[in-house]
Amino acid sequence: MKTLVVYYSYGGNTEKTAKVLVGLLKDKGFTVDVHKLKPENEKRNFFLQCLDALRGREAVLSDDVNFDLAGYDLVCIGSPVWAFAPTPAVNTYLDKMLNAGGKDAIVFTTYGSGTGVEKCINSIKKRLKQKGIREVYNFNIQQAKVDDRDFAVSMMKDKLKKVLNVET
Ligand SMILES: Cc1cc2nc3c(=O)[nH]c(=O)nc-3n(C[C@H](O)[C@H](O)[C@H](O)COP(=O)(O)O)c2cc1C
Repeated sequence: MKTLVVYYSYGGNTEKTAKVLVGLLKDKGFTVDVHKLKPENEKRNFFLQCLDALRGREAVLSDDVNFDLAGYDLVCIGSPVWAFAPTPAVNTYLDKMLNAGGKDAIVFTTYGSGTGVEKCINSIKKRLKQKGIREVYNFNIQQAKVDDRDFAVSMMKDKLKKVLNVET
């Protein structure tokens, strides 16, 4: 199954989780392309970051970003939770993604206190559905657990049983 993993990570937690997911998908025989979203002029102030996320703002992304999902069977999108919402870089991706119709998606987040995780996921799911995504699977990893690979893999296996085609 040809898969695109797209994620944003400011502090590295979501990147660690993305790497575990990529490893797991490859172990299961998936062909995986990975893309880290990099905003131009990234804001570094916590309150400004929260404000942008709360307002659903988008970021201008540097590098060539592949928004076109033609040729992929599955897209995985990862974001930290910021102020109960996805990050501006991920907002941009969700807005610009093309040819998503009929494909499945895995949404993953990392988070701190856990406040707003559900809201963040629902907001991403809603936009993926608007783009024609068929089924959305998701898992969330608390920031204190991102270095625990076994925990992350067990979460992924548990939540992604159907897409990974695993029993346990
Ligand atoms: C601007 C900002 C806002 C955040 N808002 C939330 C939040 O609403 N809920 C939550 O559980 N964690 C929140 N966090 C914690 C992050 O989601 C968490 O640390 C995440 O793992 C960071 O991922 P990263 O290292 O990939 O950037 C926030 C962090 C930042 C920097």
